[in-house]
Amino acid sequence: MSELNKIALQILSNGKGILAADESTATMTKRLDSVKVISDENNRLLFRQTLFSSSSMSKCIGGVILYDETIRQKASNGKTIPELINSSGSLVGIKVDTGAKILAGSEEEKITEGLDGLRDRLNDYYKLGAKFTKWRGVYLISDKYPSKLSISSNAHALARYAALVQEAGMVPIIEPEVLMDGNHSAKDCLIKTSEVINKCFEELELNNVDLKGIILKPNMILPGKNSSEKISSEEIAELTLECLKNDVPSSVPGIAFLSGGQTEIEATANLNQINIKNDTNFIMTYSYGRALQQSALKFWSKDINNITGTQEIFDHRAKMCTLAAQGKWSENFENQK
Ligand code: 13P
Repeated sequence: MSELNKIALQILSNGKGILAADESTATMTKRLDSVKVISDENNRLLFRQTLFSSSSMSKCIGGVILYDETIRQKASNGKTIPELINSSGSLVGIKVDTGAKILAGSEEEKITEGLDGLRDRLNDYYKLGAKFTKWRGVYLISDKYPSKLSISSNAHALARYAALVQEAGMVPIIEPEVLMDGNHSAKDCLIKTSEVINKCFEELELNNVDLKGIILKPNMILPGKNSSEKISSEEIAELTLECLKNDVPSSVPGIAFLSGGQTEIEATANLNQINIKNDTNFIMTYSYGRALQQSALKFWSKDINNITGTQEIFDHRAKMCTLAAQGKWSENFENQK
């Protein structure tokens, strides 16, 4: 087994998932503004170190994705943030893209940037303790989107990123996110997501990326947020599995979904159904940002020094997601805190 494959399996096995705590300062500021907490370096650190020292870290969270600011910070107990995360047996990940910018040649679509100088930045992150990385390509969805230009430009960038990350000895998370925004049907989401994922694997293979040493982080197949289509978790799971079975090579060890604006319960229920119906060899787990942190953030914002209370909320969510990653979750567990 290659070293990269071992790392990927360590992060994803036994119902463990990923805590995506890599919001850029701009995004974290939006999140903190929404609960009326000042977004300064200390508050961002306080919230994040509260989560990283929770008891569920050792049982549920195989990896944490950090933002550049956080990987360089020290927790109040004197440990560096990577040391704190490692102390629970969890691995450190780092977002290495520099954000999505308007794609020249398209009116509104975006291309994710960050390839220039990436090799040097990766070596720094490795020295800081990172074992895996993340790069997110983002795709609008409508009648005309994603365009062929957006699909091929983002796949190209994701593949070049992945090749550099493996060269630096880390596991790349490949995140092609077809957004939930819009009134498209789940069927449209399936068709467009398939096109996006197919192109990513075409480029990954062209760039000689070892598929056993990556983690795919896709969206689930869902109707658009503004669509009137009502669809059950069972149907979401069937469509999502259809997409991944057709489009993801079987050598990929695991798939860790993003939550993408689903509520905490939706993201948990849908992941649970995916695992109940999973007839593939892929590990299917979570790499959630909002669906792991939302309730904890809301609670914390009322009293930022209530560490234990905040951790209880986070621990509950992490446990629910880890049950879902094994197809063992039920709504009844939500009330047994
Ligand atoms: P959400 O789960 O909030 O979509 O965040 C996951 C992520 O890492 C987006 O890049």
